[in-house]
Amino acid sequence: MPIYFDNAATSHPKPPSVIRAVRRALTETNANPGRSGHSAAIEAGRTVLDAREKLAALMDAEDPMNVVHCFNCTDALNLAIKGSLHVGDHVVTTWLEHNAVLRVLSALEQRRRISLTMVPPRPDGFVDPDDIRAALTCQTALIVCTHASNVTGAIQPVAAIGQVARAAGVRYLIDGAQALGGMPVDVKALNCDLYAFPGHKSLLGPQGTGGLYIAPEIRLETLREGGTGTDSHSLAQPDALPERYESGTVNLPGIAGLAAGCDYVAPRLSQIMMHERELTQALLEGLSAMDCVTVYSPAQESGRAGIVSFNVADRPSSQIADALDRQGIAVRGGLHCAPEAHRFLGTLNRGAVRASLGHTNTFDEVEAFLTAVRGML
Ligand code: ALA
Repeated sequence: MPIYFDNAATSHPKPPSVIRAVRRALTETNANPGRSGHSAAIEAGRTVLDAREKLAALMDAEDPMNVVHCFNCTDALNLAIKGSLHVGDHVVTTWLEHNAVLRVLSALEQRRRISLTMVPPRPDGFVDPDDIRAALTCQTALIVCTHASNVTGAIQPVAAIGQVARAAGVRYLIDGAQALGGMPVDVKALNCDLYAFPGHKSLLGPQGTGGLYIAPEIRLETLREGGTGTDSHSLAQPDALPERYESGTVNLPGIAGLAAGCDYVAPRLSQIMMHERELTQALLEGLSAMDCVTVYSPAQESGRAGIVSFNVADRPSSQIADALDRQGIAVRGGLHCAPEAHRFLGTLNRGAVRASLGHTNTFDEVEAFLTAVRGML
């Protein structure tokens, strides 16, 4: 049985209830949600609403209608960023962002639409909210920050950055790719206007799912328009949420699986967090004790998600990842689509090996992993 330590890329295995829900949506309740009026279509619509309600509960959102289904977290970030910005706007973001944020902003910058300030983390790997405040200008229209770095796992002070955003009256987007489902998220306590998340990582849903929380007072420009099954007499895109942002047939099997993932995670969140935290600590301690291994993840348990990145001597990360793969251990080497985070770590040329843990991983697997790495020294 291979050891799967690549949960930051996508979680595996999915709970049997998720697989059953996908199958059921494709067989027993397969119809187009929110379109036709027959019973199966209504039931499909209920499934989509049910997922929305469960996601809203997990984020403590005011109203499920403020959670819109997207194709993935990148899609949600595109909607949040492009739907917020206008020519001449300034954006503050961080070096720790994934390309799902950086490439979107960079494309807008290169088209001379916006200007961009990227704030580096402090040497400990955490962004200082004061540095975000110092980067604001009169033109700043958006702050974007990752909840947890997908490279180091460092959980950023997103609530404090939210206070900076609130005080300055600047819109605030959090990239929750490595957070929702793996740690408590309360969008109100985080002071955020927009929170983007994937369905296939810590929420344990299928790929091709994800969404965006949009605070009640926020109205985004749409990225795509089309049929919603509502206001069909009008050629104007509806204003009402969630239809405004959900044109076209949604991913019913994926969303059904995501709802089941939420059902699985919600009552177990503290237990999952504790388990992943203990495994991560064991992994980190084991790696840190090895000569010739450099660990890049924060030392303090409460400051990181279940992600440990490291390198062995001066060897390319891809070489180590491939060698682990040959021993039946799945990790991710390279740059993890987060080049500036690697620039900060000094690993832009060779990347890092990333081991990311999930709720079904065990201490025996951690031990086997450490033995495998020791064998490469
Ligand atoms: N964004 C995912 C990762 O960090 C795919 O691996």
